[in-house]
Amino acid sequence: MALLYKSDPVRGRRWRALFAEHAPDIEFREWPDIGDPADIHYLLAWQPPAAIATCLPELEVLFATSAGVDQFDVSTLPSTLPVVRMLDPAIEQGMVEYALFGTLWLHRQMYDYTRQQRERTWQAHSLVPAAQRRVGILGLGHLGQAIASQLGSLGFSLSGWSRRPREVDGVTCYAGGETLDRFLADSDILICVLPLTEATRGILNRSLFAKLPAGAALINIGRGEQLVDADLIEALDTGRLSAAVVDVVGEEPPASDHPFWQHERLLLTPHIAAMTQPETAFPVLLDNIRRHQRGEPMNGEVDRRRGY
Ligand code: GLV
Repeated sequence: MALLYKSDPVRGRRWRALFAEHAPDIEFREWPDIGDPADIHYLLAWQPPAAIATCLPELEVLFATSAGVDQFDVSTLPSTLPVVRMLDPAIEQGMVEYALFGTLWLHRQMYDYTRQQRERTWQAHSLVPAAQRRVGILGLGHLGQAIASQLGSLGFSLSGWSRRPREVDGVTCYAGGETLDRFLADSDILICVLPLTEATRGILNRSLFAKLPAGAALINIGRGEQLVDADLIEALDTGRLSAAVVDVVGEEPPASDHPFWQHERLLLTPHIAAMTQPETAFPVLLDNIRRHQRGEPMNGEVDRRRGY
């Protein structure tokens, strides 16, 4: 019985060592050296191979190396194949760190100070206390809640929006489409951690920006396809939004003439907010494999109708 790994080869070596040490009964194979496909019961992948069902006829579970699973076209997968997202604590830690960094960068107007440094301008701007800065978290799943907890300890005024009702300590929670406008009107800094689904594709657009307080700021650590790039540039240029931090884009890497590379009040990073770490992800994955072998439910199993 084998697991096929198809992701970053550097981390592949770490995954291989972990399997060899802790789960020698599971043979670790690395794409594209798949050997006899009939042995492969588990696939651990970032970008899946094309035609999974035909190239891996004995596949029992598809494990994502990532928290997001939008890269899998579930319509092409057998309807009985479980798809499991990665619940690596290192992903949560990375997302929290990045959200805190982005929030502080925006809150403390670092986009102005980096420009001023280049211009040799020594000029202070007024300092808004954290308690007066309203941070809105779009997506209140486990990542959104972990971000809220750390931002709360810095004293920010927090709200969050999710599709289904949630209760989170210290966070004003909004749920459902009809509450979105009220949530947006209260968000000086909007952090998007939504999963990509047909409902969230393009959600960060001109009409949403118009509902934020004037001069609000955006952090996108969800998926690039949720953001309409031209609408963000327009919002920054007209002053509707003051600044943005963007870690994910629809086309990665963006074309060399993409306006995000150049914009003075936009910080662009290459999809690094969080990275799965084999050492912390392995116990989570192995626990799920053992659960599956015992016929028990796995953690992080994707609801195919919801898409996350
Ligand atoms: C990275 O983008 C992830 O989904 O884990």
